[in-house]
Amino acid sequence: MASVSRYDIRDIGLAPEGVRRIEWADRQMPVLRAIRDRFARDRPLAGLRIAACLHVTTETANLMRTLQAGGADVLLCGSNPLSTQDETAAALVAEYGIPTFAIRGEDHDSYYAHIEAACDHRPQLTMDDGADVIGVLHSARREQLGTVIAGTEETTTGVLRLKALEREGKLAFPVIAVNEAQTKHLFDNRYGTGQSTLDAIMRSTNTLIAGTRFVVAGYGWCGRGVALRARGMGAQVIVTEVEPVKALEAVMDGFAVMPMLEAASIGDIFVTATGDKHVLAGRHLELLKDGAIIANTGHFNVEIELPALRALAVSSRTVRPSVEEFVLADGRTVYLLAEGRLVNLGAAEGHPATVMDMSFSNQALSAEYAVRNASSLERRVYAVPAEIDREIARVKLATMGVEIDRLTAEQELYLASWDEGT
Ligand code: ADE
Repeated sequence: MASVSRYDIRDIGLAPEGVRRIEWADRQMPVLRAIRDRFARDRPLAGLRIAACLHVTTETANLMRTLQAGGADVLLCGSNPLSTQDETAAALVAEYGIPTFAIRGEDHDSYYAHIEAACDHRPQLTMDDGADVIGVLHSARREQLGTVIAGTEETTTGVLRLKALEREGKLAFPVIAVNEAQTKHLFDNRYGTGQSTLDAIMRSTNTLIAGTRFVVAGYGWCGRGVALRARGMGAQVIVTEVEPVKALEAVMDGFAVMPMLEAASIGDIFVTATGDKHVLAGRHLELLKDGAIIANTGHFNVEIELPALRALAVSSRTVRPSVEEFVLADGRTVYLLAEGRLVNLGAAEGHPATVMDMSFSNQALSAEYAVRNASSLERRVYAVPAEIDREIARVKLATMGVEIDRLTAEQELYLASWDEGT
């Protein structure tokens, strides 16, 4: 058993349960496991200080073990106050010797104190999910920017923030946008968010999805996944969008598409997945049916206008774990899940390990790539190299026992030519 002195977690006594759960997830993360084995041999991250700010889950624990196997001196803090699995945090500290700063349900001050602890690690590589560490380094900790070689970013919202920083010419080091890898967003955002969001709604409410009018705000990869799975459960799915091409795609995928002002008075269950703020705003909340369930699966808790909900309510109480009932002035009730934070991690366990296997393989290989290529990378947001993406897909398929065809020499020649026609 390893041990560390720096940490802030709920209860170190939870470690044995955390270890069992981390091992369970690891069984479903064969690609990451293979990378860990290679990292243990090659030590590509030897001596590198990494500050990771990620959801503290069993899957993240296996990524931390992989970075550690590669020789990194890694510290982890949570990337959301409500997503931490306390037993995982305990195991990281007690069993794997990884300084961890995260407590499920922590308040704003504790959350930011933990980000500060990550910065105190004086990272040479940052690994964010939502760009919070990079945000602090670029504002309150600017004197540390020169120490950082590169960063990686896990999620759509974080990549948007980093691209804004880049546009303003203020990004101080290169960042690899892991979210942009196909083996990340096509699977994690779509199938991971799709399944875990439905899982969270069902775990917290035990409501029957079949026959409900289920409103999905946003038809990006996450929204598509939620809409697909809700339809699979028998819901009548309504999509709201602001982007015409995505809206058109939703229409042709067979979903009803309408403005939120129209959907608000029809829906039974609402899930926001846009990355934007006030998608379910006060003017929508006023129209909700009695008993409506509202949840957010986007990164930040700004998609539902919570101050407006509180202002409309005459009382509120917790009626089940992760379910808060708001009674409005006219007697209608509205049920808010997971405080409007990302419901799939707040009220369930986040994406299953099988998809996080690919997301976190991208993280590990992007960290290695960034360190190897540090001298040639500029202060920009980079996509994950296509070769990493393809390699992860190749290995994932192999671990699933799926074989695919190869181009013949004749086919390769044909694809590379322009003069063979009808
Ligand atoms: N984001 C979504 N699901 C996750 C998980 N299981 N672990 C870490 N980050 C996640």
